[in-house]
Amino acid sequence: MAGYEIKVKSKDFTYRVLIEEGLLSGLGKTVRLLLPSSKALLVSDSTVFSLYGERVLKALKSEKWQVSICRVQPGEKSKTLTSVSKLYNAAVKAGLDRNSPVIALGGGVVGDLAGFAASTFMRGVPLVMVPTSLLAQVDSSVGGKVAVNHPRGKNLIGSFYPPRLVVIDPLVLNTLPARQLQAGLAEVIKYGIIENKDFFLWLEENIGYLLSGENVFLVEAISESVRAKARVVQADEYEKDYRRILNFGHTIGHALEAATDYSYYLHGEAVLCGMLLAVEISLRQNILDLNAARRIKTMLAKCGLKRPPTGLTAQKIIDRLKQDKKRREADFIFVLPSAIGSATIVPVNDLNLLKNVIELLWFEDWGVV
Ligand code: GLY
Repeated sequence: MAGYEIKVKSKDFTYRVLIEEGLLSGLGKTVRLLLPSSKALLVSDSTVFSLYGERVLKALKSEKWQVSICRVQPGEKSKTLTSVSKLYNAAVKAGLDRNSPVIALGGGVVGDLAGFAASTFMRGVPLVMVPTSLLAQVDSSVGGKVAVNHPRGKNLIGSFYPPRLVVIDPLVLNTLPARQLQAGLAEVIKYGIIENKDFFLWLEENIGYLLSGENVFLVEAISESVRAKARVVQADEYEKDYRRILNFGHTIGHALEAATDYSYYLHGEAVLCGMLLAVEISLRQNILDLNAARRIKTMLAKCGLKRPPTGLTAQKIIDRLKQDKKRREADFIFVLPSAIGSATIVPVNDLNLLKNVIELLWFEDWGVV
């Protein structure tokens, strides 16, 4: 099967994103060609490590890497400064030098956490991302955003710290639960909606293959997504403006995650709800036409809409929206699609509109639009 190499230019260097089946087994050599060191810190969570840890260790040790391992519990609750401290201790104990990589083997939580530790340990050591969830492969491993959470908000403590290398082995998706695959596909579709009309058309044709986990199609979808992400972050690495379009679906998505204590929705599931509602807002604001809105909603609904949990209300979601760190004074900042393949950033301050649209989460039958 075809492999891809996508180059991403950041301020200080260009890094490669490699996408190919079987790359995990050659990881030791790939990293060796890049970095003149003998020590590495491998960061993972216990679930991913039990699936792929041995294979990765073997690949690293066969190239004479001295590997120290730091495992955290799976899940968002591990993205804390306490975990970062644990990683620093492991890095000190391992005797890492400034060329020793931190290798993040896992999904978005592991990548964000290991990335934040790498960005600060000894003022920065090389970061190698080995994303194992679809969401991490198409989004969080590329572009350099690393962060941990604070009790008052998600990703409140973070920095921009691009990886030196991203290694994507699509074979790891074969063990990914269907729910996680669907959640990752939401972020894949995002790129078609906001950035690449041709990709959206391709997705309309092939979404069924992607949902059933067909590797050939997943590889194509991952590489197109990474290309889209690369275009955006190269144009605006530090999110001064254009990069904000990547937050499509995230305004309400983040509020949903926060209002449910990060334990009900997967990130991609919450973003999917947020994208559906943003499309509705865009339609009601006459930014998006009816036909495009229908096509986008139909595509998103195929990834499965998760209904809100008992006890959650539109008002609770609005209360969380008010705490959004990206909010500008009285306005809520939304990324709204303006056509298939492009998006615009719009302040919205009509609370009635927001409430009416959020209530559709409970009542609209999105699957039949
Ligand atoms: N996940 C959004 C970004 O990287 O900007």
